Amino acid sequence: MSCADHHHKKQIRINAFALHSPVHHSPGMWRHPRDRSLHYNTLDYWVDLAKTLERGLVDSLFMADSIGVNDVYGGSVDTALRHGAQVPKQDPVMSLSAIAYVTRDLGLCVTSNANHEPPYVFARRMSTLDHLTRGRIGWNIVTGFAQSSVKVLGKNGIASRDERYDIADEYMDVVYKLWESSWEDDAPVRDTATGVFVDPSKVHRVDHEGRYFKVHGIHMTEPSPQRTPVLFQAGSSARGQRFAGRHAEGIYLSGPSKKVLTPVVSATRAEAVKAGRAAHDLRFYTMATIITGRTSREARDKYEDYRRFVTPEAALAMFSGWTGIDFSSWDPDEPIRYMQLDAGTSSALEGFTRLDPERVWTVRELALHNAIGGRGPVFIGAPGEVADALEEWVDETGIDGFNLSYTVTPEAYEDFADLIVPELQERGRYKTRYEPGTLREKLGGDSSRLNDRHPGAAFRRAPYSLQER
Ligand SMILES: Cc1cc2nc3c(=O)[nH]c(=O)nc-3n(C[C@H](O)[C@H](O)[C@H](O)COP(=O)(O)O)c2cc1C
Repeated sequence: MSCADHHHKKQIRINAFALHSPVHHSPGMWRHPRDRSLHYNTLDYWVDLAKTLERGLVDSLFMADSIGVNDVYGGSVDTALRHGAQVPKQDPVMSLSAIAYVTRDLGLCVTSNANHEPPYVFARRMSTLDHLTRGRIGWNIVTGFAQSSVKVLGKNGIASRDERYDIADEYMDVVYKLWESSWEDDAPVRDTATGVFVDPSKVHRVDHEGRYFKVHGIHMTEPSPQRTPVLFQAGSSARGQRFAGRHAEGIYLSGPSKKVLTPVVSATRAEAVKAGRAAHDLRFYTMATIITGRTSREARDKYEDYRRFVTPEAALAMFSGWTGIDFSSWDPDEPIRYMQLDAGTSSALEGFTRLDPERVWTVRELALHNAIGGRGPVFIGAPGEVADALEEWVDETGIDGFNLSYTVTPEAYEDFADLIVPELQERGRYKTRYEPGTLREKLGGDSSRLNDRHPGAAFRRAPYSLQER
């Protein structure tokens, strides 16, 4: 096909999906001789990875995180610990400033639960990072699903899904007030001649008295390039979609087939419109894993080699953690059916049950599927074959791109940069350079700040001179 044929087709966007742990979505792979997961607790690992991602013009490094552990399987954390299945897990924020220092364009997106940390403390940390990265910070807003993550915070049990999102809605109001309304743009004077650092008349107290939070005081940090970090969300229940429609600029999805994504994309875009935003204000990224080589044969051989290291039991323990269902006592040939979950990620279970009723998964099949690449698809093949699949997924579901997970790291991202990127570029479906500006601008925003349709923009203060009139 000529370039013109592709002219109307949207570019495919790529993030790298990571966890500060020896295992993210392909448990057991840390034993592979070429894998560097054992170095997950060193800056060298993260800095080298980030440079590779920037070579592949990847939009952002998306750091998943939670303070929960996979302790549902067999009623204890032992299976997860034995396999290093997302435990140990470190705070992903700590490595970001080192990564920022060795990169220029890579976005740095971090997950933080809007039910856990006081919003004031969190807002300050994000503002600091937005300064240090010159506006490359994104925040993946999650509401959690694991009992283990609230027990360590002194709570007896996790709030209901609806209430977790209600808390998160109020959390957003608090952080918007801090980021958007507390400091006027020209409050920092930094005048060495007069000795005035900040004009106090342009810094305003936030007075928030809500159902869940009370915050009285000024934001601690002067305005950062983006003020509000680029907002992402993950969690696709109906309530989650409503939350995403209101707040998110990017949405992270996961599911084993195209069929399960399409309805989520259209329903969430509809929620955005209901919230007074535009359908195209949202971008969707689904998790996927690529195994490629110069030829199909080379890719298959890699896959067969990787498969020797998988640990399906750990994958099942992780799925038990996500859904809250203890699969350790299930017959491996038992079919998995949908059930109502209050804790747990309903979308994880839905993807393997009611969103595609024709495909019935047994426990064994699910464990094997999830052992490489977790809940997402695995694209195996020569660059042309993989590019075909990526294009199909984007064109048929309405998503904008992918969160690339890995089997062997950083090999998977080196292969992406060296083999897949040139193929996609040739098809006119991948950028050839980063856009200038902040992360929000690089992702297509008109400015570094939230657009006017976004509810966070309503908290902006009119310029001082206008208020006086
Ligand atoms: C692709 C994807 C990534 C997620 N990443 C995280 C994460 O890093 N940390 C976390 O606590 N929850 C994560 N979640 C869980 C969601 O944030 C959410 O809490 C959960 O899905 C329950 O909400 P739901 O029922 O609306 O789906 C993720 C979910 C998806 C689909």
